[in-house]
Amino acid sequence: MTEKEFYQWLVDIRRRLHAHPELAYQEYRTSALIAGELEKLGLPYQTGLAKTGVVAELGQDGPLVALRADMDALPLSEETGLPFASRIPGVMHACGHDGHVAMLLGAAYLLKENPPPGRVRLIFQPAEEKGAGALAMIKEGVLEGVSFIFGGHIDRHFRVGEIAVNEGLICAFTDTFKVRITGKGGHAAWPHEAVDAVVCGALLVMNLQTIISREINPAHPSVITVGRFQAGTAHNVIAEEALLEGTIRSTDPKVRERIIKSIKRMAQGLAHLYRARLEVEIKEGYPPVINDAEAAKIAKQAAVAVVGEKGLCQQPHPSLGGEDFAFYLKHVPGCFVRFGAVKQGLENVPAHSPKFDFDEAVLPIGAKFLAEVAKTALTHLRKNRL
Ligand code: NI
Repeated sequence: MTEKEFYQWLVDIRRRLHAHPELAYQEYRTSALIAGELEKLGLPYQTGLAKTGVVAELGQDGPLVALRADMDALPLSEETGLPFASRIPGVMHACGHDGHVAMLLGAAYLLKENPPPGRVRLIFQPAEEKGAGALAMIKEGVLEGVSFIFGGHIDRHFRVGEIAVNEGLICAFTDTFKVRITGKGGHAAWPHEAVDAVVCGALLVMNLQTIISREINPAHPSVITVGRFQAGTAHNVIAEEALLEGTIRSTDPKVRERIIKSIKRMAQGLAHLYRARLEVEIKEGYPPVINDAEAAKIAKQAAVAVVGEKGLCQQPHPSLGGEDFAFYLKHVPGCFVRFGAVKQGLENVPAHSPKFDFDEAVLPIGAKFLAEVAKTALTHLRKNRL
């Protein structure tokens, strides 16, 4: 393929995926498309791992390095108006995972054309957004024999031609919580005979914010967001019940523990204060992404080879987003990078927005980086073993 044909091929894959997004663990069509492309490349692969995951392998012997792409979309109705916009109502590739799949297939092609000094395992993973697909793939054994793992995410905070590589923590702990408030329903005009779950819930929402602002060292980034507050049935009825749901983002295990304890303490306090019952449920989410120092060095070297010294940059601070690549890094050293992909005119449209899109010029850059980082890591492994 010429450079132009390569680009067109990647764009075509991305657009086919974009038009047919699939949610976590339902990526059957996506999986079939990947299998079809791997077939054309003549690479051996396995499908049906963790339901819809696909794994392919290149090379015969030597050290083994893994590359990972996520495949799932989000439950959103697309509003981009693009000619290849989602044809599936209520489902959209609004995080760029369609691009990640195209990039990894691109890397497969490049590695096939230019064989690496060892083995490369390509992991196409389901359910990154929800359902910890990485964990499910690890259970399927995809990390067996792997010395390093690499992956990346399309990112509108950087320009096309930039690759951000950081060492250490780059993504937060993500935990979710639920608070169920039970008061006593009643007539809107007789509050003295009721216990208002809405007032209690409103106080809780406001007070939770003081955990971050008044109890946590501001040097440790953290966030509490109540994303859902459901209560009441009519304007003139005092609500008996309220349900609050939210997320906790933190970058330090002690801070994380402290926030969870504080949420429980505040709920208890408000229960006394308002004669209501508050039940708190915390659900542990994704661990933080912590890039290995050696792997980050390898990734930097690969990034420079693809985008030059000028293109290599750093995330200025950890993102409080979550990323289930973290699970792989608990088992194997690796590095997760950011591919600059901001599209002109969409500088202020974040991922997970119904208007999200990225500049497709990032696709060959991501593909080249993935192929390059695998080769660099294998060369590094060979040298160190001699
Ligand atoms: Ni994502």
